Amino acid sequence: DQSKPIEAGAGSEAAKKVKIGIYFATWWALNVVFNIYNKKVLNAYPYPWLTSTLSLACGSLMMLVSWVTRIAEAPKTDFEFWKTLFPVALAHTIGHVAATVSMSKVAVSFTHIIKSGEPAFSVLVSRFLLGETFPVPVYLSLLPIIGGCALAAVTELNFNMIGFMGAMISNLAFVFRNIFSKKGMSKSVSGMNYYACLSMLSLVILTPFAIAVEGPQMWAAGWQKALSDIGPHFVWWVVAQSVFYHLYNQVSYMSLDEISPLTFSIGNTMKRISVIVSSIIIFHTPVQPVNALGAAIAIFGTFLYSQSKQ
Ligand code: 3PG
Repeated sequence: DQSKPIEAGAGSEAAKKVKIGIYFATWWALNVVFNIYNKKVLNAYPYPWLTSTLSLACGSLMMLVSWVTRIAEAPKTDFEFWKTLFPVALAHTIGHVAATVSMSKVAVSFTHIIKSGEPAFSVLVSRFLLGETFPVPVYLSLLPIIGGCALAAVTELNFNMIGFMGAMISNLAFVFRNIFSKKGMSKSVSGMNYYACLSMLSLVILTPFAIAVEGPQMWAAGWQKALSDIGPHFVWWVVAQSVFYHLYNQVSYMSLDEISPLTFSIGNTMKRISVIVSSIIIFHTPVQPVNALGAAIAIFGTFLYSQSKQ
């Protein structure tokens, strides 16, 4: 992984840093809001397959409207583009629904602690499936990542196997998504439009599965209950989780146009710290010191990992 070549002088270099800083801050802030509303919705309405579908549907609709009204220019795509996008969308769908199922079963902080182990999955998949080799320090950095995640998992007060496995599956799926999208992200389609197309194709893939796993009958009955438990503003929670899901992903893909995959993965880990801390405060999640220690070790490991890859 290498940063993109620096093409301009010191002034525009500083401007670029400010721009990336703004992308990162926006990405993290949007992600924190998404995670909070997503969990509020799941607590009242535990249908993660539907809420995952709604997030994708909302993003797809927002982008279609932007294209039709010419707020954003629609990309020029051909069959080849959609064919290359398919495996990316499949991995995105699996990673998204698995993370949402996880968050419906465990604390948001726990899902994100496990998800901070994503670099370990990336190295293991690249090593064993793609035959890529890494310098020894990269492998060593996996020890605190895996050890920290394991410590956090065994000391988690509200451990749940589906919650744990969902986060693990999400890690694996997102590693494949990143590998496939490296091949598929073309220069002619911007990060924003690439993510828009990804949402649309993922929506097509996910909808039949969401209907098969949960289905309209369950959704309708649960909806009535959530409305009577929470009140009419429950609808706004659903809107918020859907809109913010799209926005944070859109900004993260826009920043991918500007930064290397490595800088992106460091930004993603820092994003998880803000989500873990804010969700623990907002949801009063009980945390034991040893549990927090596990999370800290895992996150420290991801920093060692990024250092050793540089
Ligand atoms: C999702 O619902 O897709 C997950 O919350 C995504 O997690 P991430 O974008 O933080 O990896």
